[in-house]
Amino acid sequence: MIDDRLLSILSNGQFHSGRELGELLGVSRSAIWKQMKELEQLGVDVYSIRGRGYRIPGGLDLLCEKQIVTGCSELASSRLTTISLERIVDSTNMMAMREVHQQNVISGRLYLAEYQTAGKGRRGRTWVSPFAKNLYFSLVWRFTQGAAALEGLSLVVGLALVKALNSLGIAQVQVKWPNDLLVNSRKLAGILLEMHGDASGECQVVIGVGVNVAMPEQAEEAIGQPWTDLQQLSAVDISRNQLMSEVLNHLVPELDRFSEYGFAVFKDEWQQVHAFQNETVRLMLGNKEIVGECQGVDDRGALMVRHGGRVEHFHAGEISVRRQYASGH
Ligand code: BTN
Repeated sequence: MIDDRLLSILSNGQFHSGRELGELLGVSRSAIWKQMKELEQLGVDVYSIRGRGYRIPGGLDLLCEKQIVTGCSELASSRLTTISLERIVDSTNMMAMREVHQQNVISGRLYLAEYQTAGKGRRGRTWVSPFAKNLYFSLVWRFTQGAAALEGLSLVVGLALVKALNSLGIAQVQVKWPNDLLVNSRKLAGILLEMHGDASGECQVVIGVGVNVAMPEQAEEAIGQPWTDLQQLSAVDISRNQLMSEVLNHLVPELDRFSEYGFAVFKDEWQQVHAFQNETVRLMLGNKEIVGECQGVDDRGALMVRHGGRVEHFHAGEISVRRQYASGH
C-alpha cells in the first residue's frame, strides 16, 4: 500500500533520501524501498541514486478534491454531491455501478482515480490507465424521462468535453459518433455510459470518461489504435485538477439542458464538430458492412447514412464507424 504522504512528498520531483522519507512517515528505509517498487509496478518512473535517494522525474500532478471544487463554477459545485477520490481502483465505472446497484448513490456523485487496474473501454476493450497521467472519472446522474430518451446523451457528453477542452485552449477537437473525441483522427478521449433503472421512468446513468493527458510512451503498444494526449496538443501544461473542474463546468449545465429539451437542441452544435460530417464512412454492424455518405445525426442522436438510394438512421450499440478513404490510402 503506497502511503499518500509519500506521494505528496515525491510530487515535487526533487530527490528525497530513504532516511528522510522513513523519518517523515515513521517507517523503515526498507519499507520505503518496498513502496518505491510498488510505484514502479504502477508504471511510475522512479530514479534512485545511491547517496541521494529517490526522485520522480517531472514530479507528480496528483488529483485533489479541494482544487477541483475550487475550480468549479457555482452551478457545477452546487450539483456535485460528493467526490470519491481513490488512488487505485478496478474501474471508476465499476465502482459507481456497484454503488448504484446498492441504491446508495445520489445524482451528482463523482468517482475519480489515479489508476485503474481494469479500466473499461467500449466493446469489451481495456482502457489503458497509467498512474497519475490521465483523467479517469465517472459521474452518476439521475434522469427521469426513461432510458429511451437518453439516446443522445453520450453525444451531449462528448460535446461538453469538446467545449471544456476549447476553454483550455485545445482547438481542433472533433467528435466521432457516438462517443469518441479525436484530434487529427487520433483518439484523445473516450466515453462509456452505463445505465441502471427503469426503461420508461427513473434511471441512474454512470457517465465514464477517460481523457489522455500525458500518456507515457510505454503505453503505446497496449492502446492498439492511433491516440494523442493534451501534452502533445498544448504549449502549456494542463493540470488534471483544472481539467476536471472545466469538464464539470461544461458538463453539468449541458446535462441539465439535455434533461429539459432532449438532444434536438444540441444537434447543430454537435454536427459542427463532427469528424465525419458529409464524408464517406464505413459502418460495421457485426459482420455486415455498409458504405455510405454520413449526413450527421437526427434529433435523437441516431447517425444518418445515405446508402443504396435512401437515408438510414443507425442507433448506437455494437456499431463502429470509420472514415472510408479513397482507394490507395
Ligand atoms: C471508450 O472505449 O472509448 C470508452 C472509454 C471510457 C474510459 C473511462 S476511464 C473512466 C471510466 N472508468 C472506466 O472503467 N471506463 C471509463
